[in-house]
Amino acid sequence: MFYDMTGRDHGGMQIPFTALVVPRPIGWISTVDGQGRVNLAPYSFYNAVSGSPPMVYFSTTGTYGDNPTKHSRRNAEETGEFVVNMVSAELAEQMNVTTTMVDYGVDEMKLAGLAPAPSRFVKPPRVARSPIALECKYWKTVEMPVEEGREAHRATVVFGRVVGIHVDDGIVKDGRIDTMAFKPVARLGYSEYTTTENVWKMRRPDDP
Ligand SMILES: Cc1cc2nc3c(=O)[nH]c(=O)nc-3n(C[C@H](O)[C@H](O)[C@H](O)COP(=O)(O)O)c2cc1C
Repeated sequence: MFYDMTGRDHGGMQIPFTALVVPRPIGWISTVDGQGRVNLAPYSFYNAVSGSPPMVYFSTTGTYGDNPTKHSRRNAEETGEFVVNMVSAELAEQMNVTTTMVDYGVDEMKLAGLAPAPSRFVKPPRVARSPIALECKYWKTVEMPVEEGREAHRATVVFGRVVGIHVDDGIVKDGRIDTMAFKPVARLGYSEYTTTENVWKMRRPDDP
């Protein structure tokens, strides 16, 4: 089977592009708007792109009702700050609640019954129960190319610089992060998810 992705006639097949790049980490983005109202939403077009300085991105796809963009992007651009919260296995259901399309200004953290915890360098609060939170300063936005006739699907990538990191002491073992202690949730295709259930080590051939 081969899909020509340059056209949109795929013989009625639903092209599972996002089911092919898996598993994807989930950036659970908290922001505030100009009035300080909290916003929280999951983004699986999310990743780290640089270690020095530490940089991350999340990508918003599609328009949002009558609004030209999703709230996380709007807030990050308007206030210059966002926080990436880690979704541990025990927070999967709450993460799912926060994807709900609600009116601008509605606090999805509250909607999901999650308590906020203050951040140190940025205004958006972090999710208190999240074992890892990255405090970020907005850097820039990059617009992705738009497919003809599919303007409403346009994607926009928001980059930020990580300026502070919260780590729950309970997931640190011998000075290292113990991934199995919090089992990060990752996105697969469709409505499928996975968690980290095993960890192994592999040294590089040129490691001393
Ligand atoms: C696991 C998961 C991952 C998602 N990833 C993305 C994504 O990468 N980009 C996107 O635009 N929407 C994504 N969504 C949908 C958004 O979470 C949803 O549109 C949300 O309402 C946006 O909220 P906001 O407007 O407050 O930012 C995802 C939803 C789920 C459940």
